Amino acid sequence: MHFSPGAPILTSKDLVNWEYIGHSVPSLEFNSPAYNLEDGLRAYARGVWASTLRYRASRNKWYWIGCVDFNATYIYTSSAATGPWDQASVLDNNCLYDCGLLIDDDDSLYVTHGSTQLSVTQLSSDGLSAAQTQTVYNASVYVEGSRMYKRNGVYYIICTQPDIGEYVLKSDKGPWGPYEFGVILNGTSSPSALAGGDTPHQGGIVDTPNGDWYYLAFVDVKGDSTGRVPVLSSLSWTSDNWPVLKLNSGNVWPQNLSYPVESGAQTPNTDASLTGVDSFQSGTLGPQWEWNHNPDLSHVSVSSNGVQLSTATVTSLDDIYQARNTLTRRILGPASQATIHLDVSKMQDGDRAGLALFRDSSAWIGIQQTGSTRNLVMRDNMVLNQTNSWATESYGTNVASITFNQNPTNLYLRVYGDFSASGSAQAHFSYSFDGVNFTTFGSTFNLATDWEFFQAYRFAIFNYATKALGGSVLLKSFDLESVAL
Ligand SMILES: *[C@@H]1O[C@H](CO)[C@@H](O)[C@H](O)[C@H]1NC(C)=O
Ligand SMILES: *[C@@H]1O[C@H](CO)[C@@H](O)[C@H](O)[C@H]1NC(C)=O
Ligand SMILES: *[C@@H]1O[C@H](CO)[C@@H](O)[C@H](O)[C@H]1NC(C)=O
Ligand SMILES: *[C@@H]1O[C@H](CO)[C@@H](O)[C@H](O)[C@H]1NC(C)=O
Ligand SMILES: *[C@@H]1O[C@H](CO)[C@@H](O)[C@H](O)[C@H]1NC(C)=O
Ligand SMILES: *[C@@H]1O[C@H](CO)[C@@H](O)[C@H](O)[C@H]1NC(C)=O
Repeated sequence: MHFSPGAPILTSKDLVNWEYIGHSVPSLEFNSPAYNLEDGLRAYARGVWASTLRYRASRNKWYWIGCVDFNATYIYTSSAATGPWDQASVLDNNCLYDCGLLIDDDDSLYVTHGSTQLSVTQLSSDGLSAAQTQTVYNASVYVEGSRMYKRNGVYYIICTQPDIGEYVLKSDKGPWGPYEFGVILNGTSSPSALAGGDTPHQGGIVDTPNGDWYYLAFVDVKGDSTGRVPVLSSLSWTSDNWPVLKLNSGNVWPQNLSYPVESGAQTPNTDASLTGVDSFQSGTLGPQWEWNHNPDLSHVSVSSNGVQLSTATVTSLDDIYQARNTLTRRILGPASQATIHLDVSKMQDGDRAGLALFRDSSAWIGIQQTGSTRNLVMRDNMVLNQTNSWATESYGTNVASITFNQNPTNLYLRVYGDFSASGSAQAHFSYSFDGVNFTTFGSTFNLATDWEFFQAYRFAIFNYATKALGGSVLLKSFDLESVAL
């Protein structure tokens, strides 16, 4: 969506443990200053939507394809998934909406796309332009999120009816059809750990080296305050080549599954890109980091001392949603806690810096400098208006503020959030001067749970000016812990 770099890539050796390795879209170069938060514009919930990624062996090339803003399809390529990626082509006025790429046995490239009326577009042999398009299926219900596959000479398009089902179109005649309709799942209960979530949908299918098949989908949890939680189930094939999910009786998603690849790391996620302390020793931001919209890197410097964020925006309205250079990390379920160590000694009059829980309804703990005084503040009720193109509806309210005897120069800020399906959907903030003794601060924050901003909450580190540029903070470390409930 509106985070930059976009289209994150994760890799796994066992379909269970995943690691961030890069992004297909190095910067949101989508022909609008909104992606830079420039000219008072913004692109919340626009940007990268459902997109597709495939490796083409004949050209030793990775292709990423996605429609942006309903009017253009962007194609990025790279010779390695880890990058560097380049914008290779733009199909103007041609939105391959919610697309899925198939590289056929003869190296032809087909992209399925559309909503309800599903089409297939064959790409040119270099994969950078559209050669021909045909509608291949008119569904009787709203569907989107298409993926295209070929197995044993049979072509498949799988697609979702959002929140309800996953369907399959099958053709043994070729990529243009005709296709027959089948159901992979319909109204299946989410796994018990995500009870209350919706039907696992908008997935993809994948086979392992030993020939087993899996369906990897997601469940929208807690009206998407938590986002879309990935779930996995095994899949088999009927004698006439229809895919069948292995569900529990009563149309219930299985709770437990053997590791798909037995040699996989059979331990919970321990990868440093997901949890643990990042103190930026490499002098770079790893692929687990994304900015809110494109950053202005002339105000950022990353070294082994940390990330120096110089104020990049003056927002006299105190609007965090219009401020550039807010650095984000994904939350983790079922609950998680993020702690930052921040040097605030170079802040200036009018600056605000700290740690937010960031969505279309946000809250933060941080420092607000007025004159030469640095108050610790907890602020909430920063809200975007979805029906008004995500304009800021409320700039926020300070619910707690302290003036210390001495201005703080270094402090730790922490936010804990319960993002679980069955939990409170609440967060609270705390601070510390030694990193050991944390004091709860401000009021409990109730997470927004409406679905429309479905990228979920993020932990977000910000520094913006309300009067003049020139101040800076140094983010010395970020620590993310997943908390069991
Ligand atoms: C897409 O639409 C937007 C908004 O109407 C427009 O600004 C832009 O020029 C169009 N084309 C591309 C390639 O983005
Ligand atoms: C889908 O419907 C359109 C008209 O709405 C029609 O032109 C097209 O032939 C139909 N395609 C298929 C595959 O049924
Ligand atoms: C899904 O199940 C519902 C309820 O049984 C039924 O009405 C609907 O037709 C089914 N959808 C499909 C595509 O089979
Ligand atoms: C699933 O695995 C957990 C942990 O091993 C176990 O406690 C639980 O009983 C299992 N549930 C089912 C339905 O097998
Ligand atoms: C949100 O925007 C809509 C459309 O502009 C407007 O009617 C409504 O009053 C706004 N809501 C709030 C709470 O500002
Ligand atoms: C913990 O920090 C709070 C707030 O700074 C302070 O009042 C309290 O004395 C500290 N407790 C310990 C054990 O250091």
